[in-house]
Amino acid sequence: MGLVKAQSLTKVFRRPQKGPGLRGSVKHLFQRRFKDVPAVNGIDVSIEAGEAVAYVGPNGAGKSTTIKLLCGILVPTSGSVEVAGVTPHVDRIANARNIGVLFGQRSQLWWDLPVRESLGLLRDMYDLPKGFYQQRIERLDEVLGIGELMPVLARKLSLGQRMRADLAAALLHQPRIVYLDEPTIGLDIAVKDKVRKFLRELRADGTTLMLTTHDLGDIEDVCERIIIIDEGRKIFDGPLAQMKDSFARTRRMHLHITDGTPMDVIAKHLSTADVSGEGSEVTIAFDRFAHTAGQIIAAVLQVAEVGEFHLDEPAIEDVVRKVYAGELLV
Ligand SMILES: Nc1ncnc2c1ncn2[C@@H]1O[C@H](COP(=O)(O)OP(=O)(O)OP(=O)(O)O)[C@@H](O)[C@H]1O
Ligand SMILES: [Mg+2]
Repeated sequence: MGLVKAQSLTKVFRRPQKGPGLRGSVKHLFQRRFKDVPAVNGIDVSIEAGEAVAYVGPNGAGKSTTIKLLCGILVPTSGSVEVAGVTPHVDRIANARNIGVLFGQRSQLWWDLPVRESLGLLRDMYDLPKGFYQQRIERLDEVLGIGELMPVLARKLSLGQRMRADLAAALLHQPRIVYLDEPTIGLDIAVKDKVRKFLRELRADGTTLMLTTHDLGDIEDVCERIIIIDEGRKIFDGPLAQMKDSFARTRRMHLHITDGTPMDVIAKHLSTADVSGEGSEVTIAFDRFAHTAGQIIAAVLQVAEVGEFHLDEPAIEDVVRKVYAGELLV
C-alpha cells in the first residue's frame, strides 16, 4: 500500500513539427503537423509513508513531468496516479492539502510582494488556524532563517534566500508528502548544506520525500532509495546501497609504498588490475567481482613494502554516469 502510487503512468506531449524559417512557419499555420513525444512512458512507482526517494535521470528524462503529474498540474495521457487516496488531477484542492512542492527553477512566491504577504496568502488559501501558522513560521525561521526575509520583496531576494523562502512556502501547511524538483540548484555550498540539513530534519519528522536533483550529494545526504529514469522509463528502483553494490564494479585502493619499488613492477605483477600513480603513491583500480581487497594487498606485498593504504567507497557518481551512458544493467 503505497502512499504515492503510479501505475503505467504515461504523459505524451504533442510537439509541433515546423519547417525552418518563415516559409516553415506560414506552412505550419495552414497545415499543422505534430509528433507525439512520450515524456513519461509507463512508469510504475510506489512510495511508502516516510520514505525519501531520489528521482534521477539525465536532462529531459521526464522527472519534472512525473512530479507535475503527481501534483495534478498535468493530466496523464494514460495510466493511473493516486496520492494519499486522492487522484491529483481530479481533486487538486484535496491533493494540495496533502502535498508540498518546490520547483527550484521557478519561484512560487508572488514576485512583487514581501515574503510575509506571500506566506499570508498561502495561510488564507490553506485556511490555517492562527496559532498553527505562528508556530510554523517560528519553526521555519529556526531551520531556514526566514525571519529576516519576511519584509523583503520576492524579486529582491538572492537565489539562496529565494530558495529558503520558497521552501517555507511549500512547507507552510506541514504537508505529509513533499516533492522537491532540484531544491539545491545554483546554491552555494553553505546554503546547500542548510537545505540538506533541513531535508534530513523533514525526514526525521516522518515526511515522505521525493527529490529530483542533479547533485548527487543531495541524494547521499537525504535518500536511501533511488529511482533512475531515462527517456520516460524506469531503469532502476532500489536501495542506494544496492545500486552501489550491484553496479559499482570498480574499486580503488590507494597505497603508500615504503621501499621504493617502482610502479611498473607492481603493475606488471598485478596484470588484471589498473595501476597508476606517482612516486610512492600508487592507486590500484580493480574489479571487485574478480578480486577482493585482501587479494590485491597480498599480491602487492609479494613485490613491495606497504605503509598506509585505504579503499575508496564506491562513488554513486560513477554509477549514475554509467547509467546515463547506457553502460549498465546486469
Ligand atoms: N509542456 C510541455 N510541452 C511539450 N513538451 C514538454 C513539456 N514539458 C516537458 N516536455 C518534454 O518532455 C520531456 C521531459 O521533460 P522534463 O521536464 O520532464 O525532463 P526532466 O527530466 O525534468 O529534465 P531536466 O533534468 O532537464 O529538468 C522533454 O523532452 C521535454 O522537452
Ligand atoms: Mg526537470
